[in-house]
Formats: sequence, C-alpha cells, structure tokens
Amino acid sequence: MVNIKHVSVEFKDKNHSFKAVNNVSLKIKKGEIFGIVGTSGAGKSTLLRTINLLQKPTSGNIFIDSVNITNFTSDKLRSVRHGIGMIFQHFNLIHTKTVFDNIAFPMVIAGTQKDAVKRRVSELAELVGLLDKIHFYPSQLSGGQKQRVGIARALANNPRILLCDEPTSALDLETTNSILELLKNIHKKTGITTIFITHEMDVIKKICTRVAVMDKGVVVESADAYDIFALPKHSFTKKLVSHTLNLELPQRIFDSTKGVLLKIIYSGEKAEESVLSDIIRKFDVDINILHGKIEYINEIPLGILIVNIKNENGAKIDNIIKYLNQRTASAEVFNG
Ligand SMILES: Nc1ncnc2c1ncn2[C@@H]1O[C@H](COP(=O)(O)OP(=O)(O)OP(=O)(O)O)[C@@H](O)[C@H]1O
Ligand SMILES: [Mg+2]
Repeated sequence: MVNIKHVSVEFKDKNHSFKAVNNVSLKIKKGEIFGIVGTSGAGKSTLLRTINLLQKPTSGNIFIDSVNITNFTSDKLRSVRHGIGMIFQHFNLIHTKTVFDNIAFPMVIAGTQKDAVKRRVSELAELVGLLDKIHFYPSQLSGGQKQRVGIARALANNPRILLCDEPTSALDLETTNSILELLKNIHKKTGITTIFITHEMDVIKKICTRVAVMDKGVVVESADAYDIFALPKHSFTKKLVSHTLNLELPQRIFDSTKGVLLKIIYSGEKAEESVLSDIIRKFDVDINILHGKIEYINEIPLGILIVNIKNENGAKIDNIIKYLNQRTASAEVFNG
C-alpha cells in the first residue's frame, strides 16, 4: 500500500548538512496499523511527512499502491493528498473556526457541496462523540476533545491512509486511552491503513500490529509488534522494551545475588507453569523468582519472568538456557 524505498532526507545550511532520515525502506500493508517508534529527534516526523510529500526526500522514492508519487506535479499531488488524512500532536486546529468549520475545512477546500458537507460533518462529529459541541471553538475544548476534532477533520474526505504524528503525546493517560480506542474503532469500521508515530512503546503495545524502531534517522529493526516486545534484536530496541516493561531491578539485587539472573519470556497462552519446577528437578538447582508479569501486546498475552539461579554458572547454566529455549519463547542471561 505504502512503500518507502531507500528514502533519505538531508537538511543543509551554510556550514553543515544533517541526515534526518537515512536510507529508510519500509512496506506498510493495506489495512494495518503500523507504528514507528523512536526517541526525540530520531527522524520520525520527517519520515512521516515524506509519505504525503509535505517533505520531499533528498533521495529515494515513495510508492502508494505501486505508483511512484515522488516526482508528482502539485496538481497530481493534491489528489494524492486528498486520500491521506493526518493528525498531529498539537491538533493544528484553526482557532477562529468552530468545530463544525474545522471538520468541514478539507471538504470546503475540495469543493464539496454544502448539503453534503453538512451531512458528513454531523456523521463525523457523531463518530468522534462531539455532536453536542459542534458550535464550540477550539479554546472551549479539552485536549482530548481537540484531538477528536483533529481526527474527524482528517477523515472528512474519506481517506484510505491515516498518518498520525504523536496524536496522544500531549494527553494524559486516560485521554490517551480513549483516543486510542477511538482510532481502533475507526480502523475496525473503515479498515483505513494507519501509520502511527510515537515515542512510547506503551502506545505501540495498545494499538499497533507491526512496528519499525527508529534511531538517529535509521530504522534499526521492524517486526510484528508482539515480536518486538518478546524478542527484540537490536540493542536500542532492547533498551526501549526493557524500559517500558519496567524490568529494571534495584542495583542492590545485582550486587548481592550469587549465581545468574535469567530473563524468560513465554507466550502467555502457552504458559507452562511446570517449567521452573522441572528445571529445579532436572538440573538440581535453587531458583528464586525476582520479577514476573503478563503484558498484553495488542491484546495477546506475553509472560515475563526474571529468576535467579543460585550458586551456579558455566556449563550448567548454558544447558538450562538451552532447555528453557525449547520450552519457552526465549531465555537469556539478564544484565539489567
Ligand atoms: N526543516 C528542518 N530543517 C533542519 N533540520 C530539521 C528540520 N526538520 C527536522 N530537522 C531535524 O531533523 C531531526 C529529526 O527531526 P524530526 O522532527 O523528524 O524528529 P522526531 O523523531 O519527529 O522527534 P520528536 O519525537 O521530538 O518529534 C532533528 O534533529 C531535527 O532538528
Ligand atoms: Mg516528531
């Protein structure tokens, strides 16, 4: 659906140049919710803006439905952008216009007939739960309500692609959850291909099916959301995941434990409680559980355990890890 091929964006001034996006290639499938996660300055917004060519790539190409749009003239681009809605962290509403006029804006620009505009605005206001606020101005709305207007406006022309640039970063947790629920519902109803940027793995966990992890302009890893959490490969991803799963243990535990700490991941549905007691019997070791939880990644359970195998190291630990890797999703030495 959206194919980003070897895209780089370089910003130049008099003295130096800077690659904000560095040779990124990603394929986003029709109808999925694809997340792009990374820390501030990673190049996420710049990359997102290349998809509707608000930002022209310095090199590389953007394909939508197999059509290379990179060098489209402004006329042709206008019709492509018609099919792409966008929502923003700071909502970007027009403060002098009411909710009605903000939602209507893209349709007015597109020359839609007045009656059709009226019908569609009512429909959208109902969809986002703002029918009773249609004559309010943005200053009279809460952050969550403003984002609902942003979402309704983005959907006005029935786009097939929705670009979301940190739409929940300015919102508290509860409002974030309600906006994510709304986006999920819209996705369910319309099947709109959604590309969702965030710096929070917690948000990815709740809404995305696949994820690309970005660091310093580069996509370091991309995979199913579940696999990114269960089996992160790149060190940067591992750090993000461990931070969000809150697996940090107090330093004194690392200082005072004898033996080895292991992190064991298992697919929650297949959680086999006997694994630990099997190990105790089979390898004649003492095990102490230090941390345990079940996370839900896109509603699929993921179990995480951190255990201390006391007074052991070397070959026995290697064998235990081998055994665990057969019985669980993964097991590895945990160093914090
Ligand atoms: N128009 C521009 N001119 C020069 N540099 C820019 C421009 N736009 C972005 N940059 C730089 O490119 C880098 C990536 O910026 P970008 O906004 O894409 O990051 P981001 O991942 O979206 O960060 P955040 O999470 O803070 O929004 C930053 O170092 C930024 O300063
Ligand atoms: Mg950004």
